[in-house]
Amino acid sequence: MKLWSGRFSAELNDIAELFNDSLPFDKAMYRQDIAGSVAHCKMLGKCKIITASEANAIVKGLEVILSDVESGKLNIDGAEDIHSFVENALVSRIGDVGKKLHTARSRNDQVATDIRLYLRDGIDETVKLLKALVTALCRRAESELDTYMPAYTHMQKAQPTTLAHYFSAYANMFLRDAERLIDCRKRVNILPLGSGACASTTFPIDREYTAKLLGFDGVCDNSLDGVSDRDFAVEYLSAAALVMTHLSRINEEFIYWSGEEFGFIKLPDEFSTGSSIMPQKKNPDVSELLRGKSGRVFGELIAMLTVIKGLPLAYNKDMQEDKEPLFDADKTVRLALTVFTAMLEKLEFDRDAMKRASVGGFSCATEIADYLAARGVPFRTAHEITGNIVKSCIANGKNLQTLSLDEYKSFSPLFEQDIHTAVTAESAVSRRTVKGGCAPQEVKRQISTLLSKLESI
Ligand code: ARG
Repeated sequence: MKLWSGRFSAELNDIAELFNDSLPFDKAMYRQDIAGSVAHCKMLGKCKIITASEANAIVKGLEVILSDVESGKLNIDGAEDIHSFVENALVSRIGDVGKKLHTARSRNDQVATDIRLYLRDGIDETVKLLKALVTALCRRAESELDTYMPAYTHMQKAQPTTLAHYFSAYANMFLRDAERLIDCRKRVNILPLGSGACASTTFPIDREYTAKLLGFDGVCDNSLDGVSDRDFAVEYLSAAALVMTHLSRINEEFIYWSGEEFGFIKLPDEFSTGSSIMPQKKNPDVSELLRGKSGRVFGELIAMLTVIKGLPLAYNKDMQEDKEPLFDADKTVRLALTVFTAMLEKLEFDRDAMKRASVGGFSCATEIADYLAARGVPFRTAHEITGNIVKSCIANGKNLQTLSLDEYKSFSPLFEQDIHTAVTAESAVSRRTVKGGCAPQEVKRQISTLLSKLESI
């Protein structure tokens, strides 16, 4: 039974019905829809818009519907959308009094409320997962403070750093992701119910009361905005897209670090797959999927922006297209964070290979330029001299570690015996004690800052 059949004489065309129905996907919001209806009904009772006994009967009816759906006794189908399904089920169970539930409400403010409730739960779960990931990265970093590796620019070895410094970088990104979602939640957690179809309602409702019952921080201040605002969904999707971006970047690194050319990572068997033809293969499929799934979340952000960009106020059916991108992004991000954190805990690093690589590719050249600059040579001149040293090493098949003191001295008399210490990974790393640097004690500080920020959010 359609909620709007009164003014129609013919049934909806079968294909049009299939096209119009949102139940196949909005049934995911059954809990939120029922919770919203329970709160709305309690408010109607409190404001004496319906009687207390009517309100009780409706609330009880809704509660039974919820438990029947949860236990599998009641299957969600045979209706246009989740709102119609719940209302039809209510009327078929408690009779005409159920028809009073929709007093002072429209599906337009109802659906906007449901999505906000759904997203609020999704954000809370995602923030928990992000916190667990940041904690895991910090713990991993704590045990890799002197695991040397190259820092890259332009995909070329640039300067030595440590794996702890690298993990701390990603922990900062995922912490910002959590902060962004928490900030977005403030705008998600505003109640649209009471906006009605578009111009609010003539009934003396108490919107603040409904908001309080549902745990909203406030009510939207304009009913036209209340039913047509999907900014919060765009904000959420953009925060979700950034989570996926960060996951994609770190997994991109894990993918090539696990290849023979790098050999930095030993992929855990539990998180790798094989090839149907090449017996030797152990593929980083989980990392590749984490990188690949970013594409769908980006698409969902663009889909949402595109759906709303041309919509005149207030509600338009286009808005029904908001749900699938949101639900899929929420599911994808949560699954991605869960699998990534589990995999991270199992990753093994080849510390020797990483240390060897950390001083390859003349990555200590900056140490030499700094060495001369600290002894009074203008940095630009020191840079030029060091460039000449590198050029000569390349020509003679040498490197900065094997160049003799005499050879160093031929470029500048300021070089002393300690130049050989200066071009080690240990020295390059331990001297970078400035805030943000890679020295072990500084990375320890970064970790404790991360952990205390994590506590405070
Ligand atoms: N299924 C609809 C949606 O998701 C519910 C709102 C319907 N409102 C309407 N005026 N047809 O947007």
